[in-house]
Amino acid sequence: SFEQSLRPQSLRQYIGQDQVRENLEIFIKAAKQRRETLDHVLLYGPPGLGKTTLAMIIANEMGVNIRTTSGPAIERPGDLAAILTALEPGDVLFIDEIHRLPRSIEEVLYPAMEDFCLDIVIGKGPSARSIRLDLPPFTLVGATTRAGSLSAPLRDRFGVLSRLEYYKEEHLTSIVLRTAELFETEIDHQSAAEIARRARGTPRIANRLLRRVRDFAQVKGDGEIHLSLAKEALELLQVDQRGLDHIDHKLLKGIIEKFRGGPVGLDTIAASIGEESETIEDVYEPYLLQIGFLQRTPRGRMVTAAVYHHFGMEVPAP
Ligand code: ADE
Repeated sequence: SFEQSLRPQSLRQYIGQDQVRENLEIFIKAAKQRRETLDHVLLYGPPGLGKTTLAMIIANEMGVNIRTTSGPAIERPGDLAAILTALEPGDVLFIDEIHRLPRSIEEVLYPAMEDFCLDIVIGKGPSARSIRLDLPPFTLVGATTRAGSLSAPLRDRFGVLSRLEYYKEEHLTSIVLRTAELFETEIDHQSAAEIARRARGTPRIANRLLRRVRDFAQVKGDGEIHLSLAKEALELLQVDQRGLDHIDHKLLKGIIEKFRGGPVGLDTIAASIGEESETIEDVYEPYLLQIGFLQRTPRGRMVTAAVYHHFGMEVPAP
C-alpha cells in the first residue's frame, strides 16, 4: 500500500539513528557474507521511532520474509508453535511489544532462539510426553518500549541490542521533506523544520503533523506549504512551540495545580487526570524527561522550573 511505501525500504533510505543503522549495516553484511542467519535483534525505545520499520528493513536487506506478531497476541504455547513451524529458513519473526509475552511462552521461546528447536508437551496427566521439533533457523526481532520489563534470560538471548533515541531536529526535517516528496506536496525547508521542531523527536508524529498541515494547505491555501500557513495549522492542531499536546498539558498542569508541582506518584497523577499509568510512562513521560520538563525522584514525579516558564507562570518559592 501507499502507507507501506512511505516507510524507508532499506538502510540507505533510513534517516537518523546513525549508530543503530551503522551497526546493523555491519551485522547484516557479515551474516550475508557468511551465508548465515542474522542473530536475534532487540529494538527498544519510545514509541514511534521506527522499530517496526527497522524490522522490515532487516528482512528486506537479508532478502527474507517477515512474519509479524505481538506479545499480547500469543496467549498459549500452541500459538507460538504455529508461527515458528510455519517459518522458512532465514525468515524474520517480528514480535512487537515483546515485554507483554506471557512468561509461560517465554520458556518455549528460549530453546527456539538458542537451538532452533521446540519442546512441546502432548497429552495430559501420566501419559503426557514431550516431543522435540526442529525449526528452521530464523532471526527474532523483538521490539519493546521497556527493555527493563523483559526477563533477563530473554534479554540475554538477543545477540544485538539496539536502543532507538529521539531524532535530532535536522533528521526529522529530512524525514518531513522526504515524506512531502512522496505525497507530491510542495513544502519549503522552514516549514519542514517547524513541523520537525514540534514533533517531539518522533517521525510518526512528524508525519502525522505533515498530513494535517497538508490538509490545511489544500483547503485553506493553494496546496503548497509555507511557514505562515504551517504555523497557523499547527496552532489549530493544538501542538505548542515545544510540540506538547493536550495530554502533555493536562499532565504537567495536573501536577502543578493538584500536587503543587510534585513529587507525586505515577498512579496518583494518572488517576487524577484520567489516563492510564502505562500510557503516561511509555508514551508521554519519556519525552518530558528528555527535554527536562519532568524529573523522577524516589518520591515520585516533579515538574521543573522550565515548565513554569513554558506556561508563563511564576516559579513557586521552595
Ligand atoms: N519515515 C519515518 N521514519 C523514517 C526514517 N527514519 N527515515 C526515513 N523515512 C522515515
